[in-house]
Order: sequence, then structure tokens, then C-alpha cells
Amino acid sequence: MYRRFYLILLLISGVVLFAFSILAIVKELNPEWKGYQSEYKKIFIDNAEGPEADVLAKQFDIGHKQIYLKRLKRVDRCMNCHAGVENPFMSEAEVPYRRHSGDYLDKHPVAEFGCTVCHDGQGRATNMKEAHGIEFDTHWDRPVLPFTYIESSCAGCHDAEMLKNNGAIKFAAGEKLFREKGCRGCHKLAGEGGVLGKNLDGIGSRPKHYFSLRYVEGDKTAYAWLREHFVDPAKIVPDSGMKVVLNDEEADLLTVYMLTMKSGEIPKEYRRIMNYPERPVTGEALYRMYCIACHTSGEQTIYDEIFGRTIPAIMNPSFLKSINDRLLTEMIKEGRNGTQMTAWKNDAAGLGDDEIQRIVAYITRNRPEAGPEPFGFTKFSADVRAGRELYKVRCAFCHGETGRGGKGFLGIDLANPVIQGADPEFLAVTVRDGRPGTTMVPFGEKGLKLEAREITDVVAYVRTLSMKE
Ligand code: HEC
Ligand code: HEC
Ligand code: HEC
Ligand code: HEC
Ligand code: HEC
Ligand code: HEC
Repeated sequence: MYRRFYLILLLISGVVLFAFSILAIVKELNPEWKGYQSEYKKIFIDNAEGPEADVLAKQFDIGHKQIYLKRLKRVDRCMNCHAGVENPFMSEAEVPYRRHSGDYLDKHPVAEFGCTVCHDGQGRATNMKEAHGIEFDTHWDRPVLPFTYIESSCAGCHDAEMLKNNGAIKFAAGEKLFREKGCRGCHKLAGEGGVLGKNLDGIGSRPKHYFSLRYVEGDKTAYAWLREHFVDPAKIVPDSGMKVVLNDEEADLLTVYMLTMKSGEIPKEYRRIMNYPERPVTGEALYRMYCIACHTSGEQTIYDEIFGRTIPAIMNPSFLKSINDRLLTEMIKEGRNGTQMTAWKNDAAGLGDDEIQRIVAYITRNRPEAGPEPFGFTKFSADVRAGRELYKVRCAFCHGETGRGGKGFLGIDLANPVIQGADPEFLAVTVRDGRPGTTMVPFGEKGLKLEAREITDVVAYVRTLSMKE
């Protein structure tokens, strides 16, 4: 009884195995590309003009095609289906038989460059699904790039200036946006920039598994992640601390630019980079690059919901009136530990002293001519304990008990070393005059009517705040 059962089972599995082997052999003998090459040959014969071309067409050998690009460490087999890319008689045919558009392949002959240096995709694959790598289950990190982003590959070998002059304008536009949208306010690139977001070096080489694709609506690819993240960071990364306002077109351009951040994939011999994008020189350009994302025009105090912290108005006339360049420079260089304000000095965010000077000159360009009325801090002997009581009543609900500001507080951080070390005259003038246009109200005679002695006391107390923790 059992023996018969096993016999039948054996028979069935034998038949199944046989069927699969036949299928495999048929597939091997008739790979996908063979069909495309036969079709190509037919079209070529039809289109060929003149006896020479006729002979060439008839002699076209249907067989496996590949090029081995030794220095680029690639094997490209795309020509198995895209057989006519360099054939002038195929200009009118359809893709994949068609001659390549433009003069890209005249300038980059297939034998030397292949296809994947510009298009990505999986060069070794011989079926379309794997070669284009678009299906999710191919696990290929670099699917064929949508044309929207293809300029990112040109930039691996050419500079923005050259590309711009040759019609490839997206990369140059993306690079410009990166400078002007303040991305470096939070991101380091080649050693320069803030630290709130990650270092962006090599972001274009990241495998797709690096990104969490869960909330991405389009293709599950790195470039779709980048693009959708630019349009709405918090949709792709819940609780993202990234602050940007970009429209769809800008998101595309920045995606192109990000995809060019590949770490040394192309060998030197292939690169034709003449001039690197120039570092911005003017204070205004530097301000756009590093500060604008958070401080915007510098005229308004902003309580930022994402940060849970107030961003001060650094171009407010009363601020500029009371602060000197030395103190402003120090604030910028040292930043504010524990807040989003990065230390911009050379060994932190990478700005040179001369660059910081130019930013200071830009921030203070409209500084009112008349300085503030002197306060004369040293005229009084301060009573720190009285100051503490005043602080609790008058200041703590904005600056926090510890003076650190933060979530829910309108005031900013006072407990940092720069403010602690600042000339008390500056602090006293600030408390007396406030910062009109912001919620920092004047506490002096023209405001909440604290006496000069009381202001001295509270300032003396403020200067002890860093010792409180
Ligand atoms: C097995 C055949 C096959 C292989 C191999 C193949 N392709 Fe294709 N390719 C096609 C066909 C067919 C089309 C047109 C239909 C389509 O787009 O789905 C196409 C279209 C394209 C397009 C145009 C897409 C568009 O949106 O217009 C590009 C770009 C492309 N292929 C690049 C490549 C690159 C790069 C490789 C090598 C990594 C490659 N292909 C390998 C068959 C192939
Ligand atoms: C120097 C870069 C570069 C190389 C190398 C290159 N391409 Fe392209 N390819 C492009 C660009 C750019 C476009 C988009 C053209 C446009 O929209 O103007 C394109 C377009 C295409 C298209 C869409 C149809 C067309 O012709 O516009 C196909 C298909 C294609 N390429 C296949 C290939 C294949 C196959 C190879 C390798 C044999 C290859 N390309 C090599 C840059 C390149
Ligand atoms: C792998 C590196 C590489 C990539 C990718 C690449 N190029 Fe090139 N390109 C070169 C090299 C190398 C030359 C010079 C070829 C030569 O001297 O024969 C060149 C030549 C050119 C030229 C002719 C310039 C001249 O002075 O003769 C243009 C225009 C050009 N490329 C544009 C592009 C565009 C647009 C793209 C993207 C679609 C692109 N290249 C992608 C390496 C590359
Ligand atoms: C206010 C600070 C801030 C600004 C300004 C900012 N980012 Fe971000 N960025 C972040 C933070 C925080 C993250 C991590 C959370 C996330 O992925 O959304 C991030 C993530 C990223 C990532 C993903 C990096 C990775 O390795 O996962 C990219 C790419 C990026 N930002 C590019 C940009 C570009 C380009 C700009 C300018 C248009 C910009 N950012 C402006 C804070 C910022
Ligand atoms: C990621 C957001 C962010 C970026 C980028 C940024 N700042 Fe700030 N900045 C802040 C915040 C938040 C504070 C307030 C911190 C606190 O004291 O609570 C601040 C404080 C300051 C202050 C102190 C002002 C005062 O009233 O005490 C100055 C000056 C300043 N920033 C200048 C700059 C300059 C110049 C740049 C560009 C080089 C810059 N910031 C970039 C977020 C930022
Ligand atoms: C209603 C909220 C509020 C109150 C009350 C308040 N502040 Fe402020 N304070 C602020 C804001 C907001 C700023 C930053 C304004 C700007 O420059 O954009 C600030 C700035 C300051 C600064 C300048 C710090 C710097 O880095 O430049 C000092 C000093 C200061 N406050 C001290 C005090 C003292 C002392 C008191 C109590 C007597 C007080 N503040 C009460 C909101 C307040």
C-alpha cells in the first residue's frame, strides 16, 4: 500500500523536475534579449540605406553582447537589448532599438563609458526587470535613474560651470539652492556646516536600506525618499527636526544635487572637473548658506515649534545697537551648547575667522549710528540675593528657572558661557531697554519701571546662572 504511494510520489516529482529542466533550457536558449535583437535586426535591415549598411545589417550577429570597463570596474550588458544606441539608421525606431538621443554617446563612446555611469541600473543583468532594477524584489540599490535626476551622474565627472554651459542646468541649480536655502545651517558637507542634521558626505552612495522607506509614496528607492523628504520632512521621518520650505521643483533639483554626493566612485582618469564651485565670498551669501534656515531675515523673534525654542532676532536694531562686534563674533563662534545654535568656529562647524567677520559685517550693516545711553553698571554694588528674587518674579516665566529657556519658554538661553562672560553693561542695557519688536520688554524707566539698582541686582544674578545646575 505504502510502496505504491511512494512510487507515485516519486513519479510525480520526476515529471515536475523534468518539466522545470526543460523550461530552464528553453529560457537559456531564448533569453529575453534574443527577442529584442531579432527585432532590432529586422528594423535595421528595413532602415539601412546603401549597400554597405545593408551588408552590416544582414551581418548583425545575434548573440550575447557586453563590454568590460576595467577602470570603471563595471560590466555593462545593456546593449543586449539597446542594440541600436550608436546606429545612425535607428533614429526613428522605438526604444530599446533606437539610436541614443543627443550627442551623449559621441562624447562618451559606449566602448569606453558603457551605460551605467550615466543611467545607473544593473549592468550585468540580461533581463529587463533586473537591468532596470525598478521592481522592489530585485534588491538592486541603483535602479535606472529617472531622467529628472540623470544629471546627478554627469556631476561625478564634470563641474557645475561646464554642465551649465552644456545644457545640463539642474545640477547647477541644485547646487545653488543648497547654498541659498541654508542647508549648511544644520548639515556638514566636506567638513563645513552645522551639526543638527547628519553629515551629507556620501549621501548619494547610500544603499536604499539606509533610508526608512515606510512612508515613501512613490518608488521605494533612495531618490524617491530624498525627494519626498524635501517636500515634507516630517511626513517621511516622524518628528524630523529638519526645517525647510521647498516646492516640488526645488525638491527635484536638490535631489539631483544630493545624488551627486558619491564618495570617490569614479576613477580620476574619467573625471574632467576644472573648477570646483567657488566658496561664497560675501557676507550675505555666507549668511544664506549657514544662518538663513533658522534666523530667516533676522528681523523677527520666532518661537520654533519643532525646536521647542525661541530663535532670536539677530538683526533687530536694538540688539545691534547694544552689542559690539567682539561679543557678536564670540556668540557666533561659540554657539550655544544645548540649543540648536551651532558653534561656527573653525574647529567646530568649520567657518574661518574671516568668514565669520564677513557675516558679522552683514548682520550689522544697518546698525543704528547712535549707541545706547550708557547704564553705568559699576556705579552700584549689586545684591545677588535680591536679584534672585526679582529674577524669579520678573524673568523666570520667559527664560526658565535655570535660565536655559527651551520648550514652552519665550525667552532664550542666558546660562551660556558667552552671556555669562559678557560685559555686564551690555546685559544691563538689554534689560533696561529691552528689545523693541520682540517679547523682551524694557524693564527700565520707559518700561516696567525697575530702578537702576534693581536692574543691577538682577543682572548680577543672571551672571551666576551657569552655576545653578
Ligand atoms: C532585456 C532587455 C533590456 C535590457 C538588458 C536593458 N533594457 Fe533598457 N529598456 C528595455 C526596453 C524594452 C525598454 C522600453 C520599454 C520600457 O521602458 O519599459 C527600455 C527602456 C530603457 C530606458 C528608457 C526608459 C524611459 O522611461 O523612457 C532607459 C533609460 C533604459 N532602458 C536604460 C537601460 C540601461 C542603463 C540598461 C543596462 C543597465 C538597460 N536599459 C538594459 C529593455 C532592456
Ligand atoms: C554620458 C551619459 C550617458 C551615457 C553614457 C548613456 N546615456 Fe542614455 N541618456 C543620457 C541622457 C542625459 C538621456 C536623456 C536624454 C534627454 O532627455 O535629452 C539619456 C536617454 C536615454 C534613453 C531614452 C531614449 C533617448 O534616447 O532619449 C535610453 C533608452 C538610453 N539613454 C539608453 C542608454 C544606453 C543603453 C546606454 C549605453 C549604451 C546609454 N544610454 C548611455 C545619458 C547617457
Ligand atoms: C564617467 C565620467 C563621465 C560622466 C558620467 C559624464 N561625462 Fe561627459 N565627459 C567625460 C570625459 C572623460 C569627457 C572627455 C572625453 C574625451 O576627451 O574624449 C567628456 C566629455 C563631455 C563633453 C564634451 C566636452 C568637451 O570639452 O569636449 C560634454 C558636453 C559632456 N561630457 C557632458 C556630459 C553630460 C551632460 C553628462 C551627463 C549626462 C556627462 N558628460 C557624463 C566624462 C564623463
Ligand atoms: C534646521 C536644521 C536643518 C536644516 C536647515 C536642513 N536640515 Fe536636513 N536634516 C535635519 C535633521 C535634524 C535631519 C534628520 C531627520 C530627518 O531625516 O528628517 C535631516 C536630514 C536630512 C537628510 C537625510 C540625511 C541622512 O543621512 O539620513 C538630507 C539628505 C538632508 N537633511 C538634506 C538637507 C538639505 C539639502 C537641506 C537644505 C535645503 C537641509 N537638509 C536643511 C536638519 C536640517
Ligand atoms: C539650526 C538653527 C540655527 C542656525 C542654522 C543658526 N542659528 Fe543662531 N541661534 C539659533 C537659536 C535657537 C538661538 C538661540 C539659542 C538660545 O539662546 O536659546 C540662536 C542664537 C544666535 C545668536 C545670539 C543672539 C542673541 O540675542 O543672543 C546669534 C548672534 C546667532 N544665533 C547668530 C547666528 C549666525 C551668524 C548663524 C549662521 C552662521 C546662525 N546663528 C545659525 C539657531 C540657529
Ligand atoms: C515676556 C518674555 C520675557 C521676559 C519677561 C524677559 N525676557 Fe529677556 N528675552 C526675551 C526674549 C524673547 C529675548 C530675545 C529677544 C531677541 O533678541 O529676539 C530676551 C533676551 C534677553 C537677553 C539678551 C540675551 C542675549 O543672548 O542676547 C537678556 C540679557 C535678557 N533677556 C534678560 C532678561 C531679564 C534679566 C529679565 C527679567 C528682568 C527678562 N529678560 C525678562 C524674553 C523675555
